[in-house]
Amino acid sequence: MRLAAVLSLTVATAAAFAPNQDPFEQWHGPKAGDVRGPCPFLNTFANHGFLPRTGKYITYKDLADGLFNAVNFDANISQFLFDFAISTNPEPNSTWFSLDHLTRHNVLEHDASLSRVDAYFGHADIFNQEAFDETTSYWGDIVNVESGAAAVVARMKTCKATNPKYELSPLGEAFILGETAAFISILGDAQTITVEKPRVEYLFQNERLPTELGWKRPETPFTIELLLRNLETVAVEYRKRLNETSLNSTSLRRRSGGYAATLMHGKARLVY
Ligand code: HEM
Ligand SMILES: [Mg+2]
Repeated sequence: MRLAAVLSLTVATAAAFAPNQDPFEQWHGPKAGDVRGPCPFLNTFANHGFLPRTGKYITYKDLADGLFNAVNFDANISQFLFDFAISTNPEPNSTWFSLDHLTRHNVLEHDASLSRVDAYFGHADIFNQEAFDETTSYWGDIVNVESGAAAVVARMKTCKATNPKYELSPLGEAFILGETAAFISILGDAQTITVEKPRVEYLFQNERLPTELGWKRPETPFTIELLLRNLETVAVEYRKRLNETSLNSTSLRRRSGGYAATLMHGKARLVY
């Protein structure tokens, strides 16, 4: 094999780790002084050491290496997410973020989360069993675009009915749909947009990758294009269900689609 071909094969393969240092096997919950945030996946990656275990001072390189090694994200999607992430660091023009910065309400963190209470009620960063039980009651044995969207709409309905300060911006709404598209794609099959429910419950509840349930790092790189395509597929089912409720979504009134565009536009606003 020619050298260039060997090299390109090498870069396309996740870093090989000695067995006793394999981050998939090296799970430790946070220690005193470490920080975690509202994103179950980033918390998980820190617990495995794919991201700094402290959860602090995460640079673009930390994120890109971590997301590549853990879940095969390509460099563009890591840059896309990193630009959102640093917008939550209160220090202007920062080149890093910490997981607890993500908790700042209505920057990226939003109401109607699948596994957290609204900020009005308390800790929007900590797993909440009651909220998650409501979510999972809408998922079948297999979570797909229909049941994923049904859970999202149910959480929105509950939060709107109980939280007098309930709020959801168009960016928050696009994020919600992106989060559901992402967890299905990464823990399950990004082509059929389906995932076995136990894997998702395991990750949310333990903040650990579900390798013991048979999950493996996806072989196909995950890209912005794939995220946005799957997001729009979830959005079709979401809109159908939203139309049957009294939820007063401003973005729904203004337009009939374009959540992917909202995300791209939201990012452009942050960066330029
Ligand atoms: C730099 C990368 C990332 C950033 C900045 C980020 C940011 C966030 C933030 C701020 C939240 C809180 C939203 C809320 O529920 O109020 C969140 C939740 C979430 N994130 Fe991430 N995230 C990242 C990576 C990922 C990845 C790689 C996945 C999955 C493959 C993921 C899946 C989720 C899911 C499913 C939730 C919803 C949790 C819930 O509703 O209870 N995130 N993320
Ligand atoms: Mg939230």
